[in-house]
Amino acid sequence: MKKKWWNEKIVYQVYPRSFKDTNGDGIGDVRGIIEKLDYIKSVGVDMIWISPIYKSPMKDNGYDISDYYAIDPIFGTMEDMDELLLKAKQKGLKVLMDLVVNHCSSEHEWFKKALKDPKGPYGDYFIIKEGKDGKAPNNWRSIFGGSVWEPIKGTPYYYYHTFAKEQPDLNWENPQLRREIYDMMNWWLKKGLGGFRVDAITYIKKDPSYKSLPADGADGLAALSEVSSNYPGIEVFLKEMREETFDVYDAFSVAEMSGVDAAKLREYIGPDGLFSSIFDFSYMELDVELFQWYRPVEVNATMVKEKLFESQSMAQEAESFLSVVLENHDQPRAAEKWFPKQVGYESQTMLATMNLMLRGIPFIYQGEEIGMTNSTFSDIREYEDIMLWGQYDRAKKEGCTEEECLDMANRRSRDHARTPMQWDDSEQAGFTTGKPALPVNDNYRTINVKKEEREGSVLDYYRKLTALRKSDEYRELLTYGEIYPALEEEKDVIAYERVRDGKKLLIVLNFLGENQKISLGNEERKIVLSNYKTEESCFGQVELQPFQALVLA
Ligand code: GLC
Ligand code: CA
Repeated sequence: MKKKWWNEKIVYQVYPRSFKDTNGDGIGDVRGIIEKLDYIKSVGVDMIWISPIYKSPMKDNGYDISDYYAIDPIFGTMEDMDELLLKAKQKGLKVLMDLVVNHCSSEHEWFKKALKDPKGPYGDYFIIKEGKDGKAPNNWRSIFGGSVWEPIKGTPYYYYHTFAKEQPDLNWENPQLRREIYDMMNWWLKKGLGGFRVDAITYIKKDPSYKSLPADGADGLAALSEVSSNYPGIEVFLKEMREETFDVYDAFSVAEMSGVDAAKLREYIGPDGLFSSIFDFSYMELDVELFQWYRPVEVNATMVKEKLFESQSMAQEAESFLSVVLENHDQPRAAEKWFPKQVGYESQTMLATMNLMLRGIPFIYQGEEIGMTNSTFSDIREYEDIMLWGQYDRAKKEGCTEEECLDMANRRSRDHARTPMQWDDSEQAGFTTGKPALPVNDNYRTINVKKEEREGSVLDYYRKLTALRKSDEYRELLTYGEIYPALEEEKDVIAYERVRDGKKLLIVLNFLGENQKISLGNEERKIVLSNYKTEESCFGQVELQPFQALVLA
């Protein structure tokens, strides 16, 4: 297999808005990222993904871009960005930006021109169709809730939006538009980016018939998964994009693109894939029914194993590298979803072990490495998350009470990952001298970076994991080694082996918050790492502590 420069990387995701504020306006900024580069590096990562900082009206916190060539003033200036790129490079950190090109903002020049002349050249940069009998062209439901169609006032036309109405979809069928996108990407890549995290790219191709579907909810609408998620023909656009951009700069690209099936994985992310990698979200949302946050599901080891090993084995068969991830800015904190009543050092470090020992490119989301948790709000109106409001409307239509809705928000809102990063125990957790938009989590005095700078902390354990992954002894094995499920008869244990060139590691994870006896066989094994103080080796009958993780040679 041909090795790529990114195979060995570990990525740290920064959500700039809530990372570090340097001018007291309550909003994190580019200078804040610059200030914290040494900290980021100290976690043991070598690449940073920065969520969008382009000019934006911030309806979806920057995932609605009004100018791809400008930094939003709330985050800083282009000079700040250039300085960030330079300093990151000096420290050996690659930088990925977020590429949001399924849609732009309704404030983008292109869209303003389109509204003035829906049938003109800029109208064709978007998806604009005539309504039917005074109604929307079809009944597809947007990801954030409600119809994908929004009427254009004073005309018989509607425009299409996969997400919020302030995020009109770009028409990828238009070659001129595609050219504009590639030029913009190259403009950024030329500045020295390591590559892009590619947002929502799965939606760029739509079923050209735009036919209505049988309704699947009380709102009379239908999910668009079948008609616009990874729709056949999308590969043509993706291949062109790769050749016009990533290939030219040998750039890394990781796509947000769920549901690529095994048969297609090689084409998508194999040695000559359309992208370098895609995120494995297959076990990210096991705690709720599909797109329905108001319908919680209890997660157990069997459910996780099934998804996890399915993706891992499909990736290795296709000589591909998935990006493996526990948390991001769209998810509540991981332990909260999996073990809602047992969130703490043990459950968090056990999950971290699972993620960082997998075959794939591990991502760590800001705050995950210090064990940050969800916030609990007493009033649903305290939430900012635009997606929550769509879920709220649906929950109401499906008959949920206000109390159930609040419970849903406290479990599931994306804001749980978006509260300010907790740096120390001073006012506002050292995030800002001003007032942050989303309140700092109440637990900032006990959970913060400064406190975590000690042996035995979550942070300390994350550093041990990244160091192990980078160690001379295990780097090759942990990067390229094959993966096989192990101890499959143990229902509440997730275990797997990594194997390469006669070397092996066995990873054993107790998925329960209670002791569990397992049988390891008679061969004595060295304990390379554990989230508990342990003996140096083990064999035979072993009693695992609650959420104990073992990495065994
Ligand atoms: C992706 C982003 C999410 C955003 C959406 C629309 O899913 O991760 O935060 O809301 O795309 O751009
Ligand atoms: Ca600021």
